[in-house]
Amino acid sequence: MPVVTNTASLLERDRASLWHPYTQMSSPVAPLPVVKGEGVYRYTEDGRRILDGISSWWVNIHGHSHPKLNQALIDQVRELEHVMFAGCTHRPAVDLAERLLAHLPDGLTRVFYSDNGSTAVEVAVKLACQYWENKGHPQRRVMLALEHAYHGDTVGAMSVSAESVFTAAFTPLLFPVVRAHAPYCFQCPLGLERRTCHVECLQNLEAQLAQRGDTVAAVIIEPMLQGAGGMIVWPTDFLLGVRRLCDRFGVLLIADEVLTGFGRTGRMFACEHADVTPDLVCLSKALTAGYLPLGATVVTGAIYDAFLSSDHSKTFFHGHSFTANPLACAVALASLDLFEHGDVLNDVRRIETQLIDGLSQLRDLPPVGDVRVIGAVGAIEFVSDTKMRGAAGYLDSIGPHLAAAFLERGLLLRPLGNVLYFMPPYVITADEVEWSLSQIREVIGSLQTG
Ligand SMILES: Cc1ncc(COP(=O)(O)O)c(C=O)c1O
Repeated sequence: MPVVTNTASLLERDRASLWHPYTQMSSPVAPLPVVKGEGVYRYTEDGRRILDGISSWWVNIHGHSHPKLNQALIDQVRELEHVMFAGCTHRPAVDLAERLLAHLPDGLTRVFYSDNGSTAVEVAVKLACQYWENKGHPQRRVMLALEHAYHGDTVGAMSVSAESVFTAAFTPLLFPVVRAHAPYCFQCPLGLERRTCHVECLQNLEAQLAQRGDTVAAVIIEPMLQGAGGMIVWPTDFLLGVRRLCDRFGVLLIADEVLTGFGRTGRMFACEHADVTPDLVCLSKALTAGYLPLGATVVTGAIYDAFLSSDHSKTFFHGHSFTANPLACAVALASLDLFEHGDVLNDVRRIETQLIDGLSQLRDLPPVGDVRVIGAVGAIEFVSDTKMRGAAGYLDSIGPHLAAAFLERGLLLRPLGNVLYFMPPYVITADEVEWSLSQIREVIGSLQTG
């Protein structure tokens, strides 16, 4: 048996045996050797304290190692760590389903668990497809997604994501998807200005729906905030319009709230900004406050009913080994306790106000093209030429440059190419937000002088 010696550092051992996500391993930046997390901070093996400005990939909302979440996990592990979910049930899964439904818009009545954001999306796409099959409309197969979308890295989730550097190598595996304009106001697909437009970009979705007629199964969106596609914040009218169009054309609406769910945009769920009820909602990430992987796809009674039949071929044949893991459900319940007994959404709104104040001051600095804020997310899009509004997107070299500069200052940020964003856990204090904003101001200032 190979023997792992402890004389090498964590980094040396990592180098010898691991392959990291989204990382070109021929010239990797050394990963942070994290040994402890507490509140908004991560602590490294070499003694650094680093503020987690991206909530550990957008999952952590109440801070690292929260005493109440820790206790919930300890209590649950003493009772039941895991059991398969076909043919079995357990209290954490039932309690969580009931409480999620109470928080979600009326009309959503059934929870189907899986184990991450991509699987929550896969489940939604498959449910939408089989829903039409079961209802006797098998021609409704087409998925309609938006430009700049990101829905995950599994094959179905990639298919409904925008074509990008993430998906290019897998094109032969992806199913065809129709794409419509996103309301990317800074780079408006119609060349309009938000101040004077009437969300004319919606007409493209309308045209696609009209053209495809009754072949469309569902429209999938990231409501109010397209994340990995560049932290694109929507006008509320666009979300309202998407729901209206789905109703008019009799098409299902899938809201991927994997990123936006659980307060990130200032509402418990982003669909609430437009008072919209989707037919299917995908949840993950902050569902467990960032502790454990868990996905949930929540659907309306109409969708659920379409799978009820004495004909077994109408069953939803889908499941994962760790579906509804009790430990994950227990932490998710403790996270909901914090929402219900505290003023978590107020914290998000406080962060939003600070971000609007702090980041709007940067709007006129030369490399800054646009500043966008929603809830506890602030984004700055850099441009190489303010007239062109162009930069190299995700592969823009400004990203790694900025990440290194911030890390040196003790702030973890991971720009999406030319889009720098700050998305802290909600427990961040006003002083810590202010400190982060001052780091951002200084580093951007150094871009002009450097
Ligand atoms: C909107 C959205 N959907 C789905 C996913 C995929 O989630 P996961 O990384 O848990 O598979 C992500 C991940 O960033 C996301 O932002």
